[in-house]
Amino acid sequence: MTEDFNQLQQIISERRTIKPTTFTGNKISDYEILEVLETANWAPTHGYTEPWRFSIFTEEGLTRLGNFYAHLDQPNSEAEGFNAQRFERFKNRPMLCSHVIGIGMMPNSNPKIPEMEELCSVAMAVQNLWLALHAKGYGGYWSTGKLAFTDKMRQFFELPEGAKSLGLFYVGIPPKEQPKGRRISTIETKLNWIKK
Ligand SMILES: Cc1cc2nc3c(=O)[nH]c(=O)nc-3n(C[C@H](O)[C@H](O)[C@H](O)COP(=O)(O)O)c2cc1C
Repeated sequence: MTEDFNQLQQIISERRTIKPTTFTGNKISDYEILEVLETANWAPTHGYTEPWRFSIFTEEGLTRLGNFYAHLDQPNSEAEGFNAQRFERFKNRPMLCSHVIGIGMMPNSNPKIPEMEELCSVAMAVQNLWLALHAKGYGGYWSTGKLAFTDKMRQFFELPEGAKSLGLFYVGIPPKEQPKGRRISTIETKLNWIKK
């Protein structure tokens, strides 16, 4: 059991945010992506609502996603101006990846289970898949930003009305040298032991 804990602790603490610009460019099979998504499906929920939804972009889907995102990102006002560099960066980003996963949430209709709980469950599902990717030697990055929660993203993910987009998860093969993990403060500073 201690061995299990040590192994799990290592996987958890060594999982990193890996940015697409550092991916090797090699691809992961759809089968392995499905395997890590299976771990997402084991996240707990209140009432078996299972609100996570995943739209998986790969092959030509990556090109389509890059085009869509880069255009959507452009400012609406002339004053802000067109930023060609930013446009190209967003357009090309998915192509650096093996797969990009659109993270969605489909809240249940039971008023006893508020959306906040569904959000918690989706985040747990994402953590599962992120850890599973890391355990397989792959890397990922949950990206939000100004477009992440828009209805346009929800529609692009082909999610039904009532669902929400929670951003993009970029997946690829990390470089040999992974970024160093850091936390601003220790767990002790975030604890309050209440014993009486
Ligand atoms: C919900 C969520 C949204 C995130 N959105 C962004 C983002 O838009 N841009 C970004 O650079 N990193 C984003 N991140 C990644 C964090 O910056 C990253 O997890 C943090 O720096 C800790 O690094 P680590 O994952 O390697 O421990 C996001 C992470 C989470 C959990």
